[in-house]
Amino acid sequence: MEKTLLLLKPDAIVKGVCGQIIDRFEKRGFKIAAIKMVQLTRKQAEIHYYEHTDKPFFHELVDFITSSPLIAMVIAGENAIKASRFMMGSTNPIDAAAGTIRGDFALNIRKNIIHGSDSLISAEREIKNFFTEKELYL
Ligand code: GTP
Ligand code: MG
Repeated sequence: MEKTLLLLKPDAIVKGVCGQIIDRFEKRGFKIAAIKMVQLTRKQAEIHYYEHTDKPFFHELVDFITSSPLIAMVIAGENAIKASRFMMGSTNPIDAAAGTIRGDFALNIRKNIIHGSDSLISAEREIKNFFTEKELYL
């Protein structure tokens, strides 16, 4: 079964909407394979977002994602990567359709509530940055 890493970013916890978001993935049919609350170190955040190292917003992105705890989870199910990206909506919440997670819960590109892996290769790499094999229940 396909797996993907989701992060309910610090703003999701501050807003108190994690339950509603997790509910959407469970209702859709995905299984939770792993879940934990964690405050990232800068090092872990930089590894997670390494592809954006040279972007002008990188420092701000790392500041935000390490600012307070987040919820990291692995969900499993058919087409988990593509389906969850559709459920999340566009990166910039202003462009995200109503009914998507960002379209319903966010307004700001930095505080855009959720992360989801964007390919099989990144899912595998990102899951390893958060969970050991033993922590995955499939
Ligand atoms: P993630 O699931 O978080 O990786 O989002 P994404 O895959 O939809 O977008 P992308 O990987 O391109 O960007 C990673 C994160 O950087 C986004 O979720 C945004 O929070 C942030 N980001 C992207 N573009 C900008 C920008 O122009 N300005 C700022 N401040 N943040 C940005
Ligand atoms: Mg991304």
